[in-house]
Amino acid sequence: MFDPETFANEAIEQIRQQIDGKTIIACSGGVDSIVATVLVSMAIGDQLLAVHVDTGFMRKNESADVVKMMENMDINHKFVDASQEFYDALKGVEEPEAKRKIIGERFIRVFEREAKIIGSKFLVQGTIAPDWIESGGELRDTIKSHHNVGALPEKMDMKLVEPLRDLYKDEVRKLGRYLGIEFAERQPFPGPGLAIRIIGEPTEEAAHIVREACAIVEEEFEKGAEEGIMELPWQYFAVLTPIKTVGVHGDVRAYGYTVAVRAVQSLDGMTAAYSKIPHEVLDKISIRITNTMKDKVNRVVYDITNKPPATIEWE
Ligand code: XMP
Repeated sequence: MFDPETFANEAIEQIRQQIDGKTIIACSGGVDSIVATVLVSMAIGDQLLAVHVDTGFMRKNESADVVKMMENMDINHKFVDASQEFYDALKGVEEPEAKRKIIGERFIRVFEREAKIIGSKFLVQGTIAPDWIESGGELRDTIKSHHNVGALPEKMDMKLVEPLRDLYKDEVRKLGRYLGIEFAERQPFPGPGLAIRIIGEPTEEAAHIVREACAIVEEEFEKGAEEGIMELPWQYFAVLTPIKTVGVHGDVRAYGYTVAVRAVQSLDGMTAAYSKIPHEVLDKISIRITNTMKDKVNRVVYDITNKPPATIEWE
């Protein structure tokens, strides 16, 4: 049986022996990176700098929440708003793999800069057991090159510290609860963020639209689940398509984008079944999205495809 108290005590001891100098971690806000941040901060205090990078493709309030959490827990941190840099790098880029590659590289570049500023000697990563057990050339990687913001290459000339290396997800959550971390048990979120939920060029405006749409989908699904009219799917979000169609506002012709709502049931993301959502919930989502973004979006559709043949994300 995994005992978080024993694990934490031993890990803190080990980290103190391993680290003697400036240390950096990219705290994306995912469970693993948060738990690793808190654990290492408990071990070495302000020797650690936790950097949160806003790529411009984070969910609504996500960066603010992560920063607030680090403030509340007295963690030495830095917030880097790199959104413009990411929008610039993605100008004119439509191809999904190209987007993923550019975002991954840009992230490393931003992070490297921060490491250099403080002269960091150690790099902490929230790697957990499945990350390295599965990294033997997965089949899925030929479908999409998955990328984890925070998963940085070792070539950065810093010594790698991976305190969660032997843990599985449920153990990381247990440890997090023991450490007093208040993270919302959020659904899985892809490393490249909202950029792969924008079909076509991921501009700042598109990011704004899909961010609002995703927030509405999350809110309405969570409300529906609280009211007991549906179960919360494994993952649920919105996708901004480049399809423009004709609509009508009052008696004026409109010409706007189509947003797709996606919700799936899955165990591990490898296969998935689309969720059967009550129409009253979909109705509210459709009305809210088209009302909130009247001049931009005039059509909302629901994705009824399983994985396979589709993937969960559209890119
Ligand atoms: P797909 O779209 O391949 O996604 O069916 C399966 C699960 O993985 C998530 N996903 C990612 N996660 N980095 C990640 O950490 C990525 O690049 C990435 N792409 C997709 C997706 O949200 C789903 O939960």
